Amino acid sequence: MKKTLDIRHVPNMQKARDRQAKEMILIRDELAIPHSLKAYAEGKYYYIRTYGCQANVRDEETMAGMLESAGFRHTMDYKQADIILINTCAVRENAEDKVYGEVGSLKSLKTAKPNVVLGLCGCMVQQTTVVDTVSSKFQHVDLIFGTHNILSLLDLLDEVITKKVRIIDVESKPGEVIENLPSVRNDKFKAFVNIMYGCDKFCTYCIVPYTRGRERSRLIDDILQECRLLVEQGYQEITLLGQNVNAYGKDLKNGTTFALLLEEVAKLGIPRLRFTTSHPWDFSQEMIDVIARYDNVMKSIHLPVQSGNDEILRKMARRYNSETYRQLVDMMKAKIPGLSLTTDIIVGFPNETYDQFLDTLKMVEYVQYDNAFTFIYSPREGTPAAKMVDDVSDEDKHTRFNELVEVVEKYAKQNAEAMVGNIYKVLVEGTSKRNEQVLSGYTESNKLVHFIGEDHLIGHIVEVKITESKVYSMRGELVHG
Ligand code: 5AD
Ligand code: SF4
Repeated sequence: MKKTLDIRHVPNMQKARDRQAKEMILIRDELAIPHSLKAYAEGKYYYIRTYGCQANVRDEETMAGMLESAGFRHTMDYKQADIILINTCAVRENAEDKVYGEVGSLKSLKTAKPNVVLGLCGCMVQQTTVVDTVSSKFQHVDLIFGTHNILSLLDLLDEVITKKVRIIDVESKPGEVIENLPSVRNDKFKAFVNIMYGCDKFCTYCIVPYTRGRERSRLIDDILQECRLLVEQGYQEITLLGQNVNAYGKDLKNGTTFALLLEEVAKLGIPRLRFTTSHPWDFSQEMIDVIARYDNVMKSIHLPVQSGNDEILRKMARRYNSETYRQLVDMMKAKIPGLSLTTDIIVGFPNETYDQFLDTLKMVEYVQYDNAFTFIYSPREGTPAAKMVDDVSDEDKHTRFNELVEVVEKYAKQNAEAMVGNIYKVLVEGTSKRNEQVLSGYTESNKLVHFIGEDHLIGHIVEVKITESKVYSMRGELVHG
């Protein structure tokens, strides 16, 4: 029998642009769990598949917390699950294609087990066309809910189950800050802490400001309380999360800044403190000072450059040029010894000429990044760049991409090889998948290291001497104290 489709809200790009919310809405309500869902959840399992960035990973942890509060248990095997959630990413088309592929392949499972609830959430469903496609072509999807509707997850599930309807509830709005939601963290030693949500930068190629709402900061006391608890629980590493952490506090209008927050969290004594992502535009001198001053703030900064050409940066609305970016890098390197820099780069932005692309290569040569995430530009419907006429062929874009990867690898290799023979602190995360006697962990600069050791070291920070570079991972040997 065909289920009724109940459409509560559908995404609207015009509304998604709205930054006019007068006051930040802060929600601290206790989570309400429908009784019928609690009864239903007994002995049942949930499975969540997450694509995309750490914001999505953290959303997964929150949704897991909510589902476990209702009584569902986690499974790693989707075939065992009664609730399947696919938490999607919209940043590039290939991320979306993977989701369509996965949703399509779940059709046979839904036919065999019609009571399984299949839900789609995350950034991808914040787009009108995606919701249209999914609701018409993938009728086995029971629930579509947006990034602003996570708070309603349990109520929505309850309705899908008890009323046997399909529901679409995707709001487009500036968004709130929601505190006190339960969460189940994916990792025992490393934790993500959201410090803010959304993005106001509106880089012309990027869909995120439309899918995640306006920039809104959590109150510093709420963040510190969460971090304090993590320290007490024995976590070794905290990563402060935001699409653009340096804008932290601006909306609070009470003088709170990211530099201040970073310093307060560092003082809590977490062994390792990281943050991501930083927009070069509002990276302050105070932030650099705090990073340099506190040993537990890792000397590793992800600083997306996107392009090395001024005209392209202007068309991307990145608010800096190649010169100011270089100056920032110079200042960081001068003040933070041993700094590791990584970046994001887009090739093939509409009408990028080969000479403009060469400026990007020059930037990589100048900064000599430890690593770079490289992307071919992917038009995102509703963004200004998607309307720009593009005369660069796919073939040219791929050729440039390969050229870029080669230059990035040259410096990644050079920097990795310079580590050989030196001793680094490594946070041990677990045993290697291939060999149980081999432990794996990350250096302070976030380099993956494999070395032989006993598993009681897992969760501890140990010293390892690097013996061999494999560019993106290293081999080493334990230094016995
Ligand atoms: N096409 C290609 N890459 C993109 N990114 C964001 N939007 C696009 C797009 N439309 C890249 C940027 C950003 C990273 C997370 O994804 O480099 O920093
Ligand atoms: Fe997207 Fe730019 Fe915001 Fe980053 S800063 S999320 S690239 S709009």
